[in-house]
Amino acid sequence: MQQKTFITSPIYYVNDIPHIGHAYTTILCDMLKKFRILQGEDVLFLTGTDEHGQKIEQSAQKHNQTPQAYADSVSVKFKELWNEFQLDYDIFVRTTDSKHCQSVQKAFEIMFEKGDIYKGSYEGNYCVSCESFFTQSQLGENLSCPDCGKQTQIVQEESYFFALSKYQDKLLEFYKQNPNMIAPAFRQNEVVKFISEGLNDLSITRTSFEWGIPLLENPKRNDNKKHTIYVWLDALLSYISPLGYMQDSHKMEYWENALHFVGKDILRFHAVYWIAFLMSLDLPLPKHIYAHGWWTKDGAKMSKSIGNVIDPKAVAQAYGIESLRYFLMREMPFGQDGDFSQKALIERINSELGNDVGNLLNRLLGMSEKYFSLQVDSKDVKKFYATELNELEHIINRTQEKMQTMQPQRYIEELWAAFSLGNGVITKYEPWNLMKNAEQDKAMALLGLIANILAKAALLLYPIMPESAHKIAKALSLSISPDSFDRLIKQHALLDDLTLTKIPPLFPRIDSPLMPESTQSGAESKESQTLKDSKSIDSKLESTNTLSLIDIKDFSKIDIRVGKVIECSAVEKSQKLLKLMVDINEPKPRQIISGIAQYYTPSELINKQVCIIANLKPAKLMGLLSEGMILASKDENGLSLLCLDTPRENGSKIS
Ligand code: ME8
Ligand code: MG
Repeated sequence: MQQKTFITSPIYYVNDIPHIGHAYTTILCDMLKKFRILQGEDVLFLTGTDEHGQKIEQSAQKHNQTPQAYADSVSVKFKELWNEFQLDYDIFVRTTDSKHCQSVQKAFEIMFEKGDIYKGSYEGNYCVSCESFFTQSQLGENLSCPDCGKQTQIVQEESYFFALSKYQDKLLEFYKQNPNMIAPAFRQNEVVKFISEGLNDLSITRTSFEWGIPLLENPKRNDNKKHTIYVWLDALLSYISPLGYMQDSHKMEYWENALHFVGKDILRFHAVYWIAFLMSLDLPLPKHIYAHGWWTKDGAKMSKSIGNVIDPKAVAQAYGIESLRYFLMREMPFGQDGDFSQKALIERINSELGNDVGNLLNRLLGMSEKYFSLQVDSKDVKKFYATELNELEHIINRTQEKMQTMQPQRYIEELWAAFSLGNGVITKYEPWNLMKNAEQDKAMALLGLIANILAKAALLLYPIMPESAHKIAKALSLSISPDSFDRLIKQHALLDDLTLTKIPPLFPRIDSPLMPESTQSGAESKESQTLKDSKSIDSKLESTNTLSLIDIKDFSKIDIRVGKVIECSAVEKSQKLLKLMVDINEPKPRQIISGIAQYYTPSELINKQVCIIANLKPAKLMGLLSEGMILASKDENGLSLLCLDTPRENGSKIS
């Protein structure tokens, strides 16, 4: 029987539009789903939005909307983004769905009938932003929230309580029996410590505001006030309500093997409260909770209130969703925090994707075409390259282990050992010399080995970069499926004879930041950030160039032209940039945005002949397109433009 598996992301609050942190968790779910499907499992992936509670009610008020209208407008943004990113979710739950509300009401009654819910009165400090109560001893300075630092408010009201303290021992026993429940392991230690320190019963209804699920009428309760269900009890139950919990149960069998992805900010709600709720409801407990760290920008947690959030849509538009997925999975060691920077993204694209993967495929295609008309086989691979095949098997096994322990960044590192192996055997065995020395069979076996490395690597790359994996597979006339995964990865079989197909380069080189600065939030720093990024990349290129000599062929790739500045003006809101129109004898003058405003005034430049790089990839600076780069020399004394000894025709080539 096919194993049924259930993977969930948190359901996100609708007070905020999706940012890179939300995208990260949702992509992790998509990645694991794809991996498990290749393993032959039947996987359901749930995501959605968390729409009740005081925080959403307040946000809606600020927007002059009803909470429902407001929730509708934000919820759809999450859904649209996941669709645009082609994230393969099966269920998008909204806590305002009527079926969900019914499940929650019924769950409350079950816990009530069981004696786990009692009425009391609550007085304590509440953080609206975290939708969480805190005891005096937990509060920070000036009664601030220990989690987010915001001011808490004193809440005093009649409330129903969940007898969480009753579950302390059961929870400790559960974690003792399941030492690998939470990944990374140090998070489980934190949770166990938190439980051991003693659990307070949890207030699970509120009466002071309206926007929540009301309790059902029950003659055993006579309340003076209308109670709504605490937003976290409501939200956590959204993992099972779409499976038909207390409705038709049509998909509840998936719940037997549930895996939750969460950020560390909400681990306690899952690892303590949720597990206790499920125990109270006599339901199976999830198999794992995977808790990741936070994406930061320049070291600070990304959040709407700080205004430093990265828009995932803008990153995907500039660099592609595949590169974004790769970067997010590769850059952040699972469980720790990771910093988002365009520079790191570009470096990874150029070196790890372009050089390590793209070039390997190109070299295979190029040599196979030249030597064997694109026909390759695996016949003699074992005979000539047994050691390498053996190494490949080890790499593949190690890679898979890393996914089992939820270490995607290590998974990728191990996988890259396969690409290194592929690149390494070319350097080591020099197929061109094998061909020269009439060792065709050895050369054929070498290309066969590389084709096998790439085929296996493509299967393992699929969860991380599905489109790119499909493209590599297509070049190798392989289809990515549970069946090919079983043969090539699990059984370590080799490819049959194959005809290769040439495809365009997978990861074209990126030479300067492609993202308009508006996605780097925090208005003042926009321009400096873009300039800083491009500068650091430039200086990196410079330093590599001084280290390695280039030959004339490399130099001839750079198209340097003489051009006349025919218009020049300051760039609005920028201290550093000038906008120039440069005539290089093309039908239209080139627009070039250059960081020289501190050294030249526009009038000094008009009619001057300058030198520009004419075949640089266009880039955007302060939202303006720049179609080239002006050459200049800069040191501590200032900046000087490169000019000609005697005038030339506009458009003349410099060599
Ligand atoms: O907590 N880095 O919703 P939420 C990484 N509705 N991940 C981040 C992140 C960052 N800077 N910021 C957010 C809620 N996330 C509740 C959940 S579940 C039953 C209810 C991700 O909109 C991360 O997964 O505040 C985090 O746990 C989640 O978004 C919080 O989303
Ligand atoms: Mg949050």
